[in-house]
Amino acid sequence: MRLKSSVFLLILLFILPGCKPHLGKKVIPSSKNLIKKEAMVVSAHPIASEIGKRVLQNGGNAVDAAVAVQFALAVVYPVAGNIGGGGFMIYRSADGEVASLDFREMAPISSSRDMYLDKNGDVIQGLSLNGHLASGIPGSVAGMFAAHERYGKLEMAELIQPAIEVARDGFAVTSQQAKRLNNFKERFIKNNLHKPVFVKDTPWKAGDQLVQTDLSQTLLRISLSGPAGFYAGKTAELIVAEMAKGGGIISLEDLDGYKVKWRRPLLMNYKNYTLTTMPPPSSGGACMAQILGILKAYDLSQYEFHSPEAIHLIAEAERRAYADRTEHLGDSDFYDVPLEELLDKDYIKSRGTDIDLNKASKSSEIFAGEPRKESEETTHFSIVDKDGNAVSITTTINSGYGSKTVVEGAGFLLNNEMDDFSAKPGVPNLFGLIGKEANAIQPGKRMLSSMTPTIVTKGGELELVVGTPGGSTIITSVVQVFLNISEFGLSTYDAVAKPRFHHQWLPDQIYYEKGALDAATISKLEEMGHTTKERGLIGKVEAIRVLPDGSLEGVADPRGDDSASGY
Ligand code: GLY
Repeated sequence: MRLKSSVFLLILLFILPGCKPHLGKKVIPSSKNLIKKEAMVVSAHPIASEIGKRVLQNGGNAVDAAVAVQFALAVVYPVAGNIGGGGFMIYRSADGEVASLDFREMAPISSSRDMYLDKNGDVIQGLSLNGHLASGIPGSVAGMFAAHERYGKLEMAELIQPAIEVARDGFAVTSQQAKRLNNFKERFIKNNLHKPVFVKDTPWKAGDQLVQTDLSQTLLRISLSGPAGFYAGKTAELIVAEMAKGGGIISLEDLDGYKVKWRRPLLMNYKNYTLTTMPPPSSGGACMAQILGILKAYDLSQYEFHSPEAIHLIAEAERRAYADRTEHLGDSDFYDVPLEELLDKDYIKSRGTDIDLNKASKSSEIFAGEPRKESEETTHFSIVDKDGNAVSITTTINSGYGSKTVVEGAGFLLNNEMDDFSAKPGVPNLFGLIGKEANAIQPGKRMLSSMTPTIVTKGGELELVVGTPGGSTIITSVVQVFLNISEFGLSTYDAVAKPRFHHQWLPDQIYYEKGALDAATISKLEEMGHTTKERGLIGKVEAIRVLPDGSLEGVADPRGDDSASGY
């Protein structure tokens, strides 16, 4: 009924362009560190954060705002925002109820364990990453409707409408976005038989308008018909027709059968903090619990931030957690993940007992194998409403612009999440990724993730809403931001902005962002037996901290266009 009553209004809004102020005429500057009394949204794009804030100001709650932000990011942040991907939501109500929603992609019915291998059993390079065969069945649209059905207050159509308008009217791309679109031009051309809207004859530059008419029509169908506007009817037919052009296997039956899962969130205590985060099929919660569980035995606060002693201990804990990740974690609906055993206090304690405070372990002696190399494009947003309800969502199409395949006529990018499965269990593939049984491909299964949307309470009160993109570095980035605040006393801004480091067991290396480690620290770590390697940016964290007077501090990672918006 509610749906029908809004149809007329929606159609009016759609056919009368210009009747509302145009949000995206000019590049909106990002706001990196904001303190507001009532409510806050921090996301990867200023327009999405602004849309979320307006929903909150208009009486929406944190979940309403999250739905609006998810759809808005699908328009203004196509590199990772999506309706063609999936994600995870952690929710905490003002009175302490917690929930986690899994809207991760599923492997299609026709998928199979060896689908990315050639006749010799070797991995076919790029097949799980590029084009039509790389996509899992998208979960984001079902996820938003499920979250809204349980917790939303405003009408769904009202929450999708801003995204429809920005897609229809266009928005000004930022200089980072222009650069990225230019970098991916050849890939877009290669992975599509049509010319997607992201391909322009002349190079993109900051301020150019990106108008997505097909996407606005797809969003309108979703707004008018609910999940059926995506998983059935015209959108579903367009997806299946697109699949046929490039050997893809997502069918109408796959789309019709997609299901979200409400899962019991994973809770862990660290001193007087409680962290609520994602269980499998994410590895994030389990790994974070192991890392923090090992570190709990030490007084980290006695060390300086980014001192060799602190980095050594954190890296040793990370090394052990990632070794377990590779062996034991996958979709618990399909594989018997020994979660209880992995989280057992004594087990975690025992994992840390062989840490030498002065000497690096060797990953080869902790576990055999090679690492999984994960893509780093994903996106996160954090929201707190005026009543104190909190949402932490990490969502992804996997690598930048996903499979780079745009559904012709529907205007959205499909994910390449199938690459998060092990293409060849037991044997490193051409990317040097390890495959293990826990994460082998099976129809209907969800691929292992590192996404770690997290909500932290202190003494039972909301303290921090946090998360980040970054593939395998997601977990260690969330851990670091939390430790930066809880152990090293950094301001929220510094906790997010300061350069990060990362260890993932294999390669046996401490990776660090430019400026994270000075020469003296590097040489001390190397003396201890670590190897170190500078790399590019690690993560883009979106954090909201509740300050002692109850106001909200939003911090948007300075590494990108990320922006906070609140009132
Ligand atoms: N695709 C990145 C992740 O799920 O961890």
